[in-house]
Amino acid sequence: MSATKPLSESVLISESRLQSRIQELGAQIFTDYEDQELVLLGVLRGSVLFFADLARAIFRAQLADQGREVALRFEFVQLVSYHNSTKPSAVQLIRGGSDYLKQRHILIVEDIVDTGRTLEFLHEHLEVLNPKTVKVCTLLDKPVQREVSVAIDYIGFEIPDAFVVGYGLDYAQQYRNLPYIAVLEST
Ligand code: IMP
Repeated sequence: MSATKPLSESVLISESRLQSRIQELGAQIFTDYEDQELVLLGVLRGSVLFFADLARAIFRAQLADQGREVALRFEFVQLVSYHNSTKPSAVQLIRGGSDYLKQRHILIVEDIVDTGRTLEFLHEHLEVLNPKTVKVCTLLDKPVQREVSVAIDYIGFEIPDAFVVGYGLDYAQQYRNLPYIAVLEST
């Protein structure tokens, strides 16, 4: 597929729907981790916009619940599973996953769960660090393409079997800065 600009009619999830769902997720996560320390573990690069908005949503929930807090820490790992193509390849860790994660509550923040292989790899990688707990929050879930079974604790949106871009997600490193999720269509 050649890189094309997403058409406006291919918007799948608008900016306002994204933002309102992320506030809900932030409130739920705040409630679940109240009075604890939590490491948000962002999976680079696709999760960056979601990660930033989710972290602020958790803080907004804290403002609304005076007296309680979630002490958030930020960590990142960079994994690759797509190499300028829409076909998956083997997952590799490029950076991150430090000793800092030992004995912590970790919430993996993903852009999308597709085959599940990235999450499977990450769980195996984290296991040796012996964290207190590991949960998963993904903005998008594409269950049709699942190859391995993975538990997901927080899901923003379940989407159909389509290649999507925007809000952090790319095709050949393009489209990450769209404020909405769009289906990439060839023209
Ligand atoms: P999985 O390992 O197949 O679950 O895929 C996870 C990774 O594949 C995500 O973090 C994305 O980087 C990438 N990916 C999967 N589906 C899409 C898509 O529709 N658009 C853009 N990237 C995708």
